[in-house]
Amino acid sequence: MAQKTYRVIQWCTGVVGKAALQHFIENPIYDLVGVLVTNPEKVGKDAGEIVGLPPTTGVLATNDVEKIIALEADCVHFAPIVTDVDLICRLLRSGKNVASVAGPFSRQHYPEQFAKIDAACQEGQTSYHACGIHPGFSGDILPLTLTRLMNRVDHIQVTEFIDKIRNPMVYTEMMGFGRDPDELLAKPSRSPEAPFAFAESMAMVAEGLGKTIEKVTTKLEVAKATQDIPYSLGVGLPDTGVVREGTVAGQHYEWTAWADGAPLITYHFYWTMGEHVEPKWDLDSRYQVVIDGDPALEVRLMARPDANGVRPFLGLPWTGLVGATAMAAICDAKPGVVTHIDLGVVQPHGLVRR
Ligand SMILES: NC(=O)c1ccc[n+]([C@@H]2O[C@H](COP(=O)([O-])OP(=O)(O)OC[C@H]3O[C@@H](n4cnc5c(N)ncnc54)[C@H](OP(=O)(O)O)[C@@H]3O)[C@@H](O)[C@H]2O)c1
Repeated sequence: MAQKTYRVIQWCTGVVGKAALQHFIENPIYDLVGVLVTNPEKVGKDAGEIVGLPPTTGVLATNDVEKIIALEADCVHFAPIVTDVDLICRLLRSGKNVASVAGPFSRQHYPEQFAKIDAACQEGQTSYHACGIHPGFSGDILPLTLTRLMNRVDHIQVTEFIDKIRNPMVYTEMMGFGRDPDELLAKPSRSPEAPFAFAESMAMVAEGLGKTIEKVTTKLEVAKATQDIPYSLGVGLPDTGVVREGTVAGQHYEWTAWADGAPLITYHFYWTMGEHVEPKWDLDSRYQVVIDGDPALEVRLMARPDANGVRPFLGLPWTGLVGATAMAAICDAKPGVVTHIDLGVVQPHGLVRR
């Protein structure tokens, strides 16, 4: 039987975008037709070279937005550092389905943005899907699937653990590591709107269980550096900063959705800058789902240990892959905004390659 193929564009090639781009090059169900970059040093490079593969795809990266929008393509995997709803709408109107790791995620909190996306989907007869590891997988599709193993659900807790020393990333500075603890607690670096990005995931789990969220409560605690902690912003890069002793070296955000007057879903985010912090939190980077009820369960989603026995944090590549592996299903979906519920059980063809 002939394999159905999908013409795809990769929009931006950061850590997330590169994981998706590599998948589009290697998976035979995808036909890579375009790559949009913002970095002038990447313009004109073959897509293969950008992800460390042979430069033989014949698709050269461009920073020409109009050229990309004019391409004949079925879909765009959208992975810029910040979202751009007007750009997403232009892509949708031009007949390209869009999966965005940068959101917007929540119709409830961004109704105007979703009204624009709805209209663009109808005009282009295309679909929009917001995706990623969290939001997009660990806090929604994963726990909801796991509840199928339960007789009764009391409380679902999803935790993201990231040690940013062993897994350097661009978000370290913007998240306020190195700030004065009292000042950060009074005015967190993560904006008060941050939970909105996760609201759709919480609502999906609650709705899937036949419940409605009554309120979401939030907490923040910090850990302090017990000595100066030098850090890098990328694997293999030299140290780019220092978290000074006594400043913020760990952050634990907690967001709880309540239903029937009790906590139903709690998301925890533990981010630390290595082991010289007090209080000490778990440094094994992973996602963890714990469901209290009958029978209670726990699932840990983590990388296999590397040659040094360290488990790298795969949240960013997983973010690219969870969208990339759903791209065909998004193309085949009915026009409009599609969630995991609409997509159903995604069948990721092309992954088994002997
Ligand atoms: N849903 C989730 O679970 C989840 C998890 C992690 C990240 N994310 C989102 O994924 C997106 C990409 O994250 P990342 O870790 O790949 O970030 P990154 O490594 O910093 O890459 C972002 C890319 O965006 C492009 N870019 C740079 N400056 C830009 C600007 N001013 N405007 C538009 N694009 C710009 C660059 O692309 P070129 O290098 O190609 O020029 C850059 O490499 C972010 O929006 C992030 O919030 C979502």
